[in-house]
Amino acid sequence: MQKPYLEISHVNKTFQRGSMLTDVLRDISLTVQKGEYISLIGHSGCGKSTLLNIVAGLTPVTSGAVTLENSHVERPGPDRAVVFQNHSLLPWLTVYENVKLAVDKVWARESASVRKDRIMRALEMVQIAHAMDKRPGEISGGMKQRVGIARALSMEPKILLLDEPFGALDALTRAHLQDQVMQIHHALKNTVIMITHDVDEAVLLSDRVVMLTNGPAATIGEILKVDLPFPRRRLELVTQPSYIKAREAVLKFLYERNKFVEAA
Ligand SMILES: Nc1ncnc2c1ncn2[C@@H]1O[C@H](COP(=O)(O)OP(=O)(O)OP(=O)(O)O)[C@@H](O)[C@H]1O
Ligand SMILES: [Mg+2]
Repeated sequence: MQKPYLEISHVNKTFQRGSMLTDVLRDISLTVQKGEYISLIGHSGCGKSTLLNIVAGLTPVTSGAVTLENSHVERPGPDRAVVFQNHSLLPWLTVYENVKLAVDKVWARESASVRKDRIMRALEMVQIAHAMDKRPGEISGGMKQRVGIARALSMEPKILLLDEPFGALDALTRAHLQDQVMQIHHALKNTVIMITHDVDEAVLLSDRVVMLTNGPAATIGEILKVDLPFPRRRLELVTQPSYIKAREAVLKFLYERNKFVEAA
């Protein structure tokens, strides 16, 4: 058996506000292999972002541990890049400068021309190089999200953490960006954990879909392995029995086992 790349081991998380304790995550254990694409799905407020932030090193565990390639995750680091739902770009910097900020930090020892190549490569990967001199206020939501992804990719992280990366986008932009992320993943074989509320998105992009139970004290309810070869083409998938079955399994989990209240 291959040694896990990322190991989340018996993680519990309790938030404390004054004397009030909230158990958010209970006994979460998950191993992820190098190059895997994992989706985390579960109802709003169940603790998905908390789990992602724990892997990012932004939130400490209450008990349990996270290890990445045998080293303990205790604080944020460039080996774990996060893309947040609300594209966290600096508004006073251009698209190019937003990516440069990350590149200069992570690749500080490299020459200016090598760093410039890195920035351009990342921008080209998500097809945003044409807008490199624009500021975030001058580009669309989908374009901002591309910049966030370019910035994360430019760091060449061991693991890419995506918190509802396409959540704020219209359906067409979303589909286009999903296809691009799928292509990038196919080319770079990077390891990804992505939070989503979208069942189709989870099945389309993932090797495995990890389903969290409702909070409080959410835990992993089911893990679905998506047995569909890459590259996947959305129009061909919709008629494939294994796709339909996978989709059904996730929907069933969300609706039946968890009394789904409202589709996001
Ligand atoms: N810093 C904090 N202090 C106290 N409670 C918190 C904190 N961060 C999150 N929580 C609580 O933990 C629970 C899980 O929040 P989290 O943001 O992880 O959910 P989520 O599954 O990502 O939800 P959504 O799908 O709406 O983004 C919520 O009840 C939230 O109020
Ligand atoms: Mg969240």
